[in-house]
Amino acid sequence: MDDPRALLDEARAAARQAYAPYSGFRVGAVVVAGDGRRFTGVNVENAVYGATICAEAAAIAFAATAGVRSIDTVAVGCLETDECYPCGNCRQLMREFSVRRVVVQDGAGGAREHDLDELLPHAFGPESLG
Ligand code: THU
Repeated sequence: MDDPRALLDEARAAARQAYAPYSGFRVGAVVVAGDGRRFTGVNVENAVYGATICAEAAAIAFAATAGVRSIDTVAVGCLETDECYPCGNCRQLMREFSVRRVVVQDGAGGAREHDLDELLPHAFGPESLG
């Protein structure tokens, strides 16, 4: 089911498995691949804070490992707040796999949808290398 709110529910359910002992900020992500397969990820923190893996990055890595090269949707849900947007690095990771739609919580219990171009305008992508 690709309903945005259902995807957010799935992302938030995944976030319960987040490993976030330092920030206490639990994030979950769901990737819907172009072929319909679904992959989830959570943030995985590290005592070396900069080595932390974001939920979106984990989900995209799972998808890529399964052979996915085109992603339709990434949904991002967090448990500690009712609105959280993907960080800049994750937006760039999404760009690599041509993400069409990003679903986030709207701060009022619903879902908000964005094109990746809205979140990462004038992006540098694979085709930029010529
Ligand atoms: N985090 C994500 O998982 N995704 C984002 O796009 C933003 C931030 C995580 C990383 C860290 O574990 C925690 O949220 C606080 O920054």
